[in-house]
Amino acid sequence: MGRFDGRAALVTGAAGGIGAAVVRMLRAEGAKVAVADRDVAGIAAEAHLPGDLMDPAHADGLAGAAAKALGRLDIVVNNAGVIARGPVTETSDADFRLNVGVNVEAPFRICRAAIPLMAAQGGGAIVNVASCWGLRPGPNHAVYCMTKAALASLTQCMGMDHAHQGVRINAVAPNEVNTPMLRTGFAKRGFDPETAIAELNRTVPLGRIAEPEDIADVILFLASDAARYICGAIVEVNGGKPVK
Ligand SMILES: NC(=O)c1ccc[n+]([C@@H]2O[C@H](COP(=O)([O-])OP(=O)(O)OC[C@H]3O[C@@H](n4cnc5c(N)ncnc54)[C@H](O)[C@@H]3O)[C@@H](O)[C@H]2O)c1
Repeated sequence: MGRFDGRAALVTGAAGGIGAAVVRMLRAEGAKVAVADRDVAGIAAEAHLPGDLMDPAHADGLAGAAAKALGRLDIVVNNAGVIARGPVTETSDADFRLNVGVNVEAPFRICRAAIPLMAAQGGGAIVNVASCWGLRPGPNHAVYCMTKAALASLTQCMGMDHAHQGVRINAVAPNEVNTPMLRTGFAKRGFDPETAIAELNRTVPLGRIAEPEDIADVILFLASDAARYICGAIVEVNGGKPVK
């Protein structure tokens, strides 16, 4: 018996580091999963919903499409994200729009569509992927931090507003995670990802940055019945390393 037997889940950013781990682990515990990302070819899942989250119609339609494909919708993981680097003086209009669009507007649209579907079937769980860098200011990522703060606030508010419908809405707030997002960031800045991650590992009290599974385990907990009394919470998953 799996923890998620009979449950149906939608996971955005399913092709990325954390998303792929969430999909694999949900399916291993019995869930049927609809995967959303720009390219979902080759991802093992029960339904494939490719598209661009910057397209409002795509984001608006994802929850309904997942419910249609899987027969119901119990879990949504709003995991897709992008990161703009630099202070505001070095952030373009395009980067601003992309970060707000993918990190805030798309989860808003997906939650707005998913909540009534879940409420109508008696409840469900939404887990948003925020960031430690949205709970306190991180250096040189102003717009990214702002979007993650917005997602954290949206989660807290929705968590209160929809608990009475049996829909639990929570977020995880990771610090650094060993994923393509982190590694390509180092590569773009001219650092060798392996060396940079080894240095980063030394800054974490637990001795290493997170692997995607460290975050996915907490996402699955929040999506599971074991978290039945948790609504509107932001769970920091940081190995003891807060943003200073
Ligand atoms: N890696 C970290 O250090 C870290 C830390 C804190 C929070 N996070 C958050 O975790 C989440 C997952 O990040 P990750 O590290 O696995 O990154 P990742 O880059 O590996 O995965 C992100 C996924 O989102 C998808 N995506 C981006 N824009 C999209 C769009 N317009 N339409 C459809 N899909 C789109 C990408 O294609 C990608 O597969 C993000 O929300 C990120 O902000 C990551």
